[in-house]
Amino acid sequence: MMTANEIRDSFKQFFESKQHTIEPSAPMVIKDDPTLMFTNAGMNQWKDIILGTRSPEPRRRADSQKCLRVSGKHNDLEEVGNDTYHHTMFEMLGNWSFGDYFKEGAIDMAWEYLVEVLKLNPEDLYVTVFEGSKEEGLERDDEAAGYWRKHVPEDHIINGSKHDNFWEMGDTGPCGPCSEIHLDSRSAAEKAQVPGRTLVNKDDPQVIEIWNLVFMQYNRKADGSLEKLSMNVIDTGMGFERLVRAIQGKQSNYDTDIFQPYIHEMERLTGLKYEDKEQHNGSVDVAMRVVADHLRAVSFSIADGQLPGNAKAGYVIRRILRRAVRYAYTFLEQKEAFMFKLVPTLVHEMGDAYPELKAQQTLISRVIKEEEEAFLRTLDKGISMLDKAMDEMKAKGVKTLDGEQAFRLFDTYGFPLDLTQLICRENGFTVDEKQFDEEMQKQKERARNAAQKESSDWVSVEHPDGGQQTEQQFVGYDYTEYECRILRYRKVTQKKNSYYELVLDYTPFYGEMGGQTGDCGVLVNEEETVNIIDTKRENNQSVHIVNELPKHPEANFMACVDTDKREGSAANHTATHLLHYALKQVLGEHVEQKGSFVSPDTLRFDFSHFQKMTDEELRAVERMVNDMVRQDIALDEHRDTPIEEAKKLGAVALFGEKYGDRVRVVRFGNSCELCGGIHARSTGQIGFFKIVGESSVAAGIRRIEAKTGRECEEMLYQLEDTLRAVKSLFNNAKDLQGVIAKYIDEHDSMKKEIESFQAQAVERLKEQLLSKVQEVNGMKMVSAVLPITPDAAKDLAFKLRQAVPERLLCVIGSHHQDRPLLTVMLSDDMVSEQQLNAGQMVREAAKLISGGGGGQPHFATAGGKNIDGLSAAVDKVVSIATSNT
Ligand code: ALA
Repeated sequence: MMTANEIRDSFKQFFESKQHTIEPSAPMVIKDDPTLMFTNAGMNQWKDIILGTRSPEPRRRADSQKCLRVSGKHNDLEEVGNDTYHHTMFEMLGNWSFGDYFKEGAIDMAWEYLVEVLKLNPEDLYVTVFEGSKEEGLERDDEAAGYWRKHVPEDHIINGSKHDNFWEMGDTGPCGPCSEIHLDSRSAAEKAQVPGRTLVNKDDPQVIEIWNLVFMQYNRKADGSLEKLSMNVIDTGMGFERLVRAIQGKQSNYDTDIFQPYIHEMERLTGLKYEDKEQHNGSVDVAMRVVADHLRAVSFSIADGQLPGNAKAGYVIRRILRRAVRYAYTFLEQKEAFMFKLVPTLVHEMGDAYPELKAQQTLISRVIKEEEEAFLRTLDKGISMLDKAMDEMKAKGVKTLDGEQAFRLFDTYGFPLDLTQLICRENGFTVDEKQFDEEMQKQKERARNAAQKESSDWVSVEHPDGGQQTEQQFVGYDYTEYECRILRYRKVTQKKNSYYELVLDYTPFYGEMGGQTGDCGVLVNEEETVNIIDTKRENNQSVHIVNELPKHPEANFMACVDTDKREGSAANHTATHLLHYALKQVLGEHVEQKGSFVSPDTLRFDFSHFQKMTDEELRAVERMVNDMVRQDIALDEHRDTPIEEAKKLGAVALFGEKYGDRVRVVRFGNSCELCGGIHARSTGQIGFFKIVGESSVAAGIRRIEAKTGRECEEMLYQLEDTLRAVKSLFNNAKDLQGVIAKYIDEHDSMKKEIESFQAQAVERLKEQLLSKVQEVNGMKMVSAVLPITPDAAKDLAFKLRQAVPERLLCVIGSHHQDRPLLTVMLSDDMVSEQQLNAGQMVREAAKLISGGGGGQPHFATAGGKNIDGLSAAVDKVVSIATSNT
């Protein structure tokens, strides 16, 4: 039987033999495309080629791509675990033709691979073709059907609707009709009873789609219309896990050698059996599938640089992880962090094919464990909240938990409806599902309104001399000014604000990427000047943001970058490279870059390291960087270098970044990285480097914030000014530290003296007050208004209680620095026998000093603002007490 790894290799070998270039998988987390958070299909990394903004060479390619389908148009999250063939993370085997072969070639090759190489039985294979769509004005795909007839009988060709057989990447973008290949893996008896063709696309777990051949012919525009692509493209995607299941003759993806190791490890760790249907509502298998699947998704994301977090991609990862924790908690009896224990199995299984897992094993385990623990604490809080709600319902005789509470549990504590329902059911309650759905809908609308960003379609600019170049040339490594024309523009509206995005034919503007902020500057000609307020990066191009369109977009312009800002960013970017190098030297090779931010005036660098850096380590890093700055090392840049050569030069590649075959190497002495950013011409331009902050951003990830050059100069002036001001407060003493230490000593001893005077004064006051105790209604009453501190008032009250242990009512109005304070002290018998309550009395009387307070039944205080009401407040307490005794 072929193993999963052998099957993956055979796919690549087959397409290599058909003149395809084998490409590496792109990262699963997408960093530079605002329209997509995660790679959800093999074609994502070729989107710009399909849309004609990047050269299509080589025109035949194939790969195995890590994908994640958990958000947006393609989202399988809720299916995972409940069935045996959906995944969050999966590998997609794909082959592409960019303007080379089309439907016939794709169909023939797919068939040859499945039937002749993998030896699948043709009788078990069914294919679908697009039936056409009136609303789109598209005919049935007779062409594809015709080619299929070469391989399968007519009754194995099935018409499919637009939903199943017209593939679209998202709401806009490349799309086209598709043909899917489905595999019937039922037993012979079942096949004889029900023909396979009736089960295609009917959610039968044994008749499933394995390969989708998309014939990309269109681009879906923002207005919903279809536009023909400039070339025909083949985009295919085969679910690797499903294929392995077919080849290994299993009934479930989880029975293959891809998933079995996790299942076995979970059985060992929990003592439960995957097959056991008797325990935990028969959900042990579901839970094990969920954990095995989600472990892969979460670990690969972390390795790609996406940690669980509160927003966007980070939040999606957090939700996946929490779903696994919930299942393990509910059905596998895991009340403590559990999933992180499976990381070694994952690294053992996939670490060779994906070295990023092996290199970051400690980080992955730590992050998962900490997230699990944090969520388990939340889960506990949620469960006690639900317990309380159920107690209240019991008391009131209510049987249904209202949807708002169920939604709050979902929103704040991450309890999905089914978990709340499960707990409620176990206690004899139901949940108002309709109300829950309404709350969910409201939340979605709120989110939609907050995030809504609408882009119009791109408008191509007609130039007087014609010439329709579509590919942009970036010239920013060599120039900050360049003559250009606008190729196309579009309008973007976000939260009622609108702006325009421009694509130029030649641009020196760097679009925000790799942590470096985008350039700003102007587009200028003799007629007009247009401010470029920012530059973003999309589909491998710089997209220039302007508030107004030029009056004559067809004219020629000079694109001029704001060089002051550019130089600041460049120096800061170079400083992050030196910092990265120095951190590895000082802390060790485990330091991995996990994020960076570089702007004209600051820099931030996140990296893996497991404890707080010491002051000595920080200094050592600063010294090393500043040494390199003083050496004024010139930039040694290698553009368009084959990746293998770059690696030989020792260039550091970052996990989770996408590199092509040819890369740019940026080297400053010993620091050597693959990088597309803008850098200083030599390290001397950094001027000076100073770390201003070191903190933790997540488990195992530290953040350094630093400043360079001019910003350091400003910081130094501020420090100098502060020091000067402090010195002048101390009469410009020479030995400033000694003088301040002496002041502090003197201050401490004076404070002690004052405290002892105060204690003596309190003692005297106590004696005076004791001599004036009044007997009222059987109480021993002491009341006074005194100019003493709050501490002294408290001390005095406790001393009086000691001296008068029975029947004491003591009311002190004190004031210090214009702040009034009311203090009430009672002996215990006044509380227990007379039912007096100091807290209630001060609260009532505090109104007279415009304040509030409280305390215990025998002792309470209230501060206020109105010192003139102090005696009235004292009288008020006395009158409340006398009227109640
Ligand atoms: N892009 C196609 C898919 O993801 C192949 O199904």
